[in-house]
Amino acid sequence: MGLIIRNGEIVTAAERFHADVRVEGGTIAEIGTRLEPRTGDETIDAAGQYVLPGFIDPHVHMELPFMGTVSADDFEGGGASGAAGGVTTFIDFCMQDKGETLPAAVARWHAKAAKACIDYSYHMSITDFGPGTPAEMREVVETHGISSFKVFMAYKGALMVDDGQLYRIMQEAAKLGAVVTVHAENGDAIWHLQRELLAKGCTGPQFHPVSRPSLVEGEATERALMMARLHGTTAYIVHMTCKESVHALERAKLAGQRCYGETCPQYLLLDDTVFEKPDFGGSAYVMSPPIRPGHVGHHDALWNGLSNRMLDTVGTDHCPFTHAQKLAGQGDFTRIPNGAAGIEDRLALLYTYGVRAGRFDLSRMVELGSTGPARIFGLSRKGSVAVGMDADLVLFDPSGERTLSAKTHHSKADRCIFEGHKVSGRVARTISNGRTVWDGRQLTTTRGAGRFITRKPTHFAHHPEVKP
Ligand code: URP
Ligand code: ZN
Ligand code: ZN
Repeated sequence: MGLIIRNGEIVTAAERFHADVRVEGGTIAEIGTRLEPRTGDETIDAAGQYVLPGFIDPHVHMELPFMGTVSADDFEGGGASGAAGGVTTFIDFCMQDKGETLPAAVARWHAKAAKACIDYSYHMSITDFGPGTPAEMREVVETHGISSFKVFMAYKGALMVDDGQLYRIMQEAAKLGAVVTVHAENGDAIWHLQRELLAKGCTGPQFHPVSRPSLVEGEATERALMMARLHGTTAYIVHMTCKESVHALERAKLAGQRCYGETCPQYLLLDDTVFEKPDFGGSAYVMSPPIRPGHVGHHDALWNGLSNRMLDTVGTDHCPFTHAQKLAGQGDFTRIPNGAAGIEDRLALLYTYGVRAGRFDLSRMVELGSTGPARIFGLSRKGSVAVGMDADLVLFDPSGERTLSAKTHHSKADRCIFEGHKVSGRVARTISNGRTVWDGRQLTTTRGAGRFITRKPTHFAHHPEVKP
């Protein structure tokens, strides 16, 4: 049985046009005018709605073991929350435990992710680079279809890699054609800043941003990009928050380096006054890098980066923790689990504060939230509305207004960092592989229906300064 979506306006990263879409067997089979249903076909009238490619979240953490606890959404529930917000594919971070081989970590992650209800892939996080790691990196890329790695330059004593490891990971990734995604903050500087604050009795959540000023992000971004440049590696800087890191990326791009930058809605829309909320309410916003002060140019740098193409994607860093979990950091902000929910709200926020506010157009929104992540990370059947692509589609109704709230979102997080934000439009339907997973009111997901999507490496060394 097929599906025909009639009368909608198709929006891709390149164009907008009115046409019908025929879906067969989970694939977009035909795009044209006045397509006729065949026996047994379902017909959906999308008049007045945009037909967008399914959104891709390139940065999420489902059931992540982190800071003494585990992030609250599992692969099924987190994916479902995404489906309600127009997401049809997410890329999680497969985390290597200390002493574990990379393939063993992949097997462990597959066991957790099998229940996902929408498609997914992983970036491979390397936390323990050793003599066997280069061969394991090759196996991850060539056998497991994971063509991006992740390094944390922060979280000293836990996930952080040092400069030697960073150098080697960049070097090996370039040979394999893999992207290196980077959490860019100077973990050593943060460690000292945290100790100095705690020694002065500064223990509340409002000191989290003080311990991680924008300079430590700017410095690490510059360092990561320079390391990548040495080897001609494609670097992708995740969750960029500040003007210093945007400017570092800008310099690299203008010098001809192949590199990418991602930001997230919370860094575009919130400011550091959120940490002052009473009753430990500021803990809900504790994430790293931190939400920055307003009125000092960070927001403008990020929004401008999205419109002038210095930034390439908007992810969410979906990593929810409940208030009960956050309480682990009462009396010591360094123990508050870092992270918040976001996968469900990205499309609505980009539409409202990006498109409706006149900062960029619908096609650029599609590029930032779907086509860009697909292209950078090699999701070759996703990110566009075109014949032969996976039938991952969003019907977006631009009319009306609603208010974001933890009461209505589908994450297990009991607080919403965008609580009270008014947004325009709504996701009227999300279609994953030709099946409706969100009908505008209810989730219709199936546990385990999501597929692990393998990705080919395409980012081989690009003008390395150190010749192999
Ligand atoms: O605070 C955050 N961002 N938590 C998730 C882990 C990470 O650094 O992305
Ligand atoms: Zn991070
Ligand atoms: Zn993250």
